[in-house]
Amino acid sequence: MPYAAFRSIGAYVPPNVLTNEDLTKMVDTSDEWITKRTGIKERHIAAKDEKTSDMGTKAARKALDRAGMQPEDIDMVVCATISPDYFCMPATATIISANLGIKNATAFDISAACTGFIYVLSIAKAFVESGMKKNVLIIGAEKLSAITNYQDRGTCILFGDGAGAAVITATQKREEAILDVHTASDGSYADLLMTPNGGSGSVHDALDRETAGCYMQMKGNETFKVAVRTLTQDVRDILEANGIKSDEIDHFIPHQANYRIIKAVGDALKMRDDQVVLTVAKYGNTSGASIPMAINDLYESGNLKKGEMMLLDAFGGGLTWGSALVPFAPFE
Ligand code: UT7
Repeated sequence: MPYAAFRSIGAYVPPNVLTNEDLTKMVDTSDEWITKRTGIKERHIAAKDEKTSDMGTKAARKALDRAGMQPEDIDMVVCATISPDYFCMPATATIISANLGIKNATAFDISAACTGFIYVLSIAKAFVESGMKKNVLIIGAEKLSAITNYQDRGTCILFGDGAGAAVITATQKREEAILDVHTASDGSYADLLMTPNGGSGSVHDALDRETAGCYMQMKGNETFKVAVRTLTQDVRDILEANGIKSDEIDHFIPHQANYRIIKAVGDALKMRDDQVVLTVAKYGNTSGASIPMAINDLYESGNLKKGEMMLLDAFGGGLTWGSALVPFAPFE
């Protein structure tokens, strides 16, 4: 049976920056409140004509280049997004494939909100280990600014845009294998974080975006509490199941939703500060893109070395959550 190896990482961050100061001109908030409650100082916002697939394509191109792979090598493309280019179809993954010149590959999107990258990682691992696919391109790409209500201070201060991508390939080497991926959900919490309308569950006929609830809505404080509790347990479980202690982790790379959530989970797991990767201050919450963007930051800073063990964890709308133990395994 082949193993699945995490070969490369890439990301794209749109240049336009929205600072806390900018937000004080849009809603009743302050830099002090946002910094203290979330750790976020700024987030990047895509250009009006820049689509989720455009950002995903740029991130994926970097990941392919860094893996030394050509578009024709890729036999599956999976994109995690809650802000696809088009409502329903076509899938953003098919557009990214076309942009990259990837032909005849299986391509589809998945919707698991902020846990999206861990879900696509589990899909890639399963397909590669089963022998059905050899080289899988996984992407987390989000234009959350397109589904954010900039009159709602409870959400608009949190979210940003961006994309990250990774190449997962088959290997025979045990030491390169992605060790484990956990994914889970509980739909009874669906109303904590949702875009209530625009789908078949819509109660509005006229899809006026402002009134029909096509924007994200969140019960932030309740979500916060479930996030800390669930993530801490989930990460404990995956470490225990694999006989790994938290001090053996080289890089703890959590979903970047809120510094206080990251800190609470990190403290509960006794993670040292130097193990924890933090990008929330500069990117905000980019949902499914946040983990690969953070891995890319670590890689570009020169601090992600071959063989080092990454622990990923995420929590998001659904509710969904997951974690993964992933050694970084670039080709020689
Ligand atoms: O990524 C997927 C999952 N998402 C998350 O994990 C996010 C989870 N939630 C959070 O990060 C936090 O709950 C928030 C940052 C959204 C909110 O922080 P909080 O500490 O839970 O604040 P809160 O909702 O309990 O609100 C506290 C107060 C309220 O005022 P009163 O009722 O005490 O007078 C809010 O109205 O803060 C007020 N408030 C604000 N004030 C200034 C809420 N948003 C703002 C704001 N600026 N932007």
